[in-house]
Amino acid sequence: MDSQTLMMLSEKYVANTYARYPIVLVRGKGTRVWDVDGKEYLDFVAGLAVCNLGHCHPRVVKALQNQAEKLIHVSNFYYIEPQIQLASLLCKHSFADKVFFCNSGAEANEGAMKLARKYAKEKMEGDRYEIITMEGSFHGRTFATLTATGQEKFHKGYSPLMPGFKYVPFNDPEAVRKAVDTKTCAVMLEPVQGEGGVNCPSEGYLKGLREICDEKGILLIFDEVQVGMGRTGKLFAYEHEGIEPDLLTLAKSLAGGVPIGALLIKKGIAESFRPGDHASTFGGNPLATAAGVAALSAILEEGMLENCEKVGSYFLSRLEEMKKKFAFIKEVRGKGLILGIELKMEGGSIVKEMLQRGILINCTMGNVLRFLPPLIVTREEVDQVVETLEEVFNKI
Ligand SMILES: Cc1ncc(COP(=O)(O)O)c(C=O)c1O
Repeated sequence: MDSQTLMMLSEKYVANTYARYPIVLVRGKGTRVWDVDGKEYLDFVAGLAVCNLGHCHPRVVKALQNQAEKLIHVSNFYYIEPQIQLASLLCKHSFADKVFFCNSGAEANEGAMKLARKYAKEKMEGDRYEIITMEGSFHGRTFATLTATGQEKFHKGYSPLMPGFKYVPFNDPEAVRKAVDTKTCAVMLEPVQGEGGVNCPSEGYLKGLREICDEKGILLIFDEVQVGMGRTGKLFAYEHEGIEPDLLTLAKSLAGGVPIGALLIKKGIAESFRPGDHASTFGGNPLATAAGVAALSAILEEGMLENCEKVGSYFLSRLEEMKKKFAFIKEVRGKGLILGIELKMEGGSIVKEMLQRGILINCTMGNVLRFLPPLIVTREEVDQVVETLEEVFNKI
C-alpha cells in the first residue's frame, strides 16, 4: 500500500492521540530507518530512547526467532526461564535484589508507587502514602503516573486526579526537605528529566535527596524509563552519582524494542510484595524477556556504554560550538546520548525541516530540540546531523 492510502486509513481507523509526521516507516537497521516509499532517514529519535541498540539488532532478532519457535507465552503461575535469566542479569549489574516485570514505563512506575505505599503501611510509623515528585517530570499516562507527572498540561481534562502527590521544583533539595511531612512515604524523580526538556541534576542534588530520604526514613525512587539502559553512558544514570535508589523503574530500551517494563527493588523492601499483591498477565513474558536478555547482554558486551560516552561528549561539544554561532540558542545540555538544545523560539518547524532532509529528531516542551540516537551512533553521523542542523538554522 502507498503512503497516502496508509495515512488516510490511519486517520480513519486509529484513535487520534498522536500528532504524526507524514511518513510511514517500514524498515530499520542500525541507526537508519526507511519509509514505505524507500526514502532513508538517520534516526536520532530511536523510538524515543527505545532502540538504544539500533534497529533490529541481530542478537535481539535471533533471540526473538528462537524464543518464538519455543514458547511465546505462559502464565506467571509457572516459572519462566528467560524471565529468571533477565532478573538475574539486572540484579547482577545494579543495586537491586529483586525484579518485578510488566509491560511499559507507566506500569513500572505504578508498581513502584504501589510498593512504596505497601512498604510504608508495613514498615513506617503513622499513615504514610504521599509521594513527592518534581515539577517538569514525566512518569506516564495512567491515572497514578499522570498525577505523579509534575506538568499541568498532562492533567487537563482528567480531574479529579489521584490523591497523595505533591510537587516541588527539580534541582532544589531544600524544597524536598520542606515538603516531607508525616504523610510522605517516598520521593520519586527522573535522574535526568527527558520529556521535561533534558534537565540534568546539578552536582550533589541526587546525593542530597538520598541523604534527606535516609534521614526521614522514606524511599527514593528513580524513574530511569528514559535514561536507563546506557543512555547516559553508564548502564543506569544513578551510577554517575555514587548513590543508589531504593526502587528503580525501567522500560523503553530494556528489550531492544519489544514492549517490557521492570521495577528493580532492594532487599528489605521487596518482601512487602507477596503472592497476589501485584501482577501482570504479560509481565516477564518469555518472548519479551528473551529479547531483554539479548539486549542487555549486547549493551554490556559490545562497547555501547563506552561509545555512548565518547560520541556523546563529542556531540555535546559540537552543539556547544553551534551555540556560539546562533543567538537564538538559549542553552545546550545533556549527558551521554540524551542531549538537548533549548531555543528562544518554538522548535517544531525545525524538526519538519530536518525530516525533509532525511534526519529524525524530536522537540519537547515546544522549544527543546532533543537528540536520542542509538548508542551505536558514529561521530560521522553526529557530524551529518550537526551540519544539516546548521543548514536549517542558517535559514532562520
Ligand atoms: C521518564 C519516563 N517515565 C515513564 C514513561 C512512560 O513510559 P510508557 O510510555 O512506556 O508508559 C516515559 C515515557 O516517555 C518516560 O520518559
